[in-house]
Amino acid sequence: MASSIRQVLYLSRVAQDVDDQSLKRIVAAAQMNNRRRDVTGVLAVGDGIFAQILEGDSNDVEQTLIRIRADERHHDVQMVLDSHTSARSFDRWSMELLMDEVSAKLAEGVFCGERFPDELVQHLKTQHSQDPVCWSGDLRAMALSS
Ligand SMILES: Cc1cc2nc3c(=O)[nH]c(=O)nc-3n(C[C@H](O)[C@H](O)[C@H](O)COP(=O)(O)O)c2cc1C
Repeated sequence: MASSIRQVLYLSRVAQDVDDQSLKRIVAAAQMNNRRRDVTGVLAVGDGIFAQILEGDSNDVEQTLIRIRADERHHDVQMVLDSHTSARSFDRWSMELLMDEVSAKLAEGVFCGERFPDELVQHLKTQHSQDPVCWSGDLRAMALSS
């Protein structure tokens, strides 16, 4: 299983005091740590829900998840998928932040048990294949100015 990539998807509720500045800090730390550990993925946020996919070596993903679970900037962490694949789906993203309505709607549906997670995963994969700039204007301006 040397080439096996672990891929997980979890959903969580965004803590009340998390604003664009906090999101920027989360993503900056995530990108720095994930590059070091060769973890890739996507963090979608909208309507008070985080949906994150992490992929990489099983142990690296596990260590990352332990830190993420302990983070008070979100709660109600719900693991939705945990599987192994032969190739990464988000190989160009150390951790990309997506803020789009479709992700938010799909994530809410999965949280409520009204939708299957595959639909959300497929949507996120499509975003990766198109490599869009989805950051809100303010967030992107903050990121570029720092
Ligand atoms: C929704 C969410 C997603 C996060 N994603 C990651 C991630 O992909 N990788 C990571 O290292 N930290 C991530 N973090 C941050 C960790 O919880 C933690 O703050 C960070 O890893 C600590 O890094 P440090 O030890 O370098 O300070 C995330 C936090 C939240 C709230």
